[in-house]
Amino acid sequence: MDKIIEKITAMGVIPVVAIENAADAVRLGDALIEGGLPCAEITFRTAAAASAIRTLCNSHPGILVGAGTVLTKSDAEIAVDAGASFVVTPGFDGGLVDWCLDKSVPVIPGVMTPTDINAAINKKLKVLKFFPAEAAGGIKTLKAISGPYGSIKFVPTGGITLGNLEDYLSLPNVVACGGSWLVKKDQISSGEFDTIETLVREAVQLVDHIRGK
Ligand code: 3PG
Repeated sequence: MDKIIEKITAMGVIPVVAIENAADAVRLGDALIEGGLPCAEITFRTAAAASAIRTLCNSHPGILVGAGTVLTKSDAEIAVDAGASFVVTPGFDGGLVDWCLDKSVPVIPGVMTPTDINAAINKKLKVLKFFPAEAAGGIKTLKAISGPYGSIKFVPTGGITLGNLEDYLSLPNVVACGGSWLVKKDQISSGEFDTIETLVREAVQLVDHIRGK
């Protein structure tokens, strides 16, 4: 778990990807590598999610591949079987989290309220997805919950763009941000991998700038 969190923290940004055709994962992997961000959260929002995870893991073993929008334990099982190194969920599901912990699968469950955060603390989790970040109060909420939940770190996702990334990453309780702005479903299906590479590179440059690199 700690190793994956370290890698995610180092990258600062997780591209949230919905992919319709698993074969496109190969060129997506090339674009991520070329853009300098070897990481993808492949969401279970399309039927191709599991095969896209498998394809990307096989074609680019150096990329950190996670599964997103994991809603059930069965999706988590399918994702891990396909090669996912970590699981991200939009909401907090104690049973799903238990399954991941039991199998030593790193899990970043979604939380939106103090009640959710408490449930995660009871599972001894320290890094949580804050979703939907912008709609749930964004920076203001993250600052407010840093008081009672000082030891918890977040991966805000939902409404993050290049325009507000710096505000989020500057918060001490934010380790990285997730976002779909880097890789759009339509860009993948229409083969706009150069655009994806450019968006990824821009994000990497901004993260480096924020972190004084
Ligand atoms: C997610 O699945 O994590 C979010 O829907 C991504 O949110 P975004 O599309 O606003 O980046």
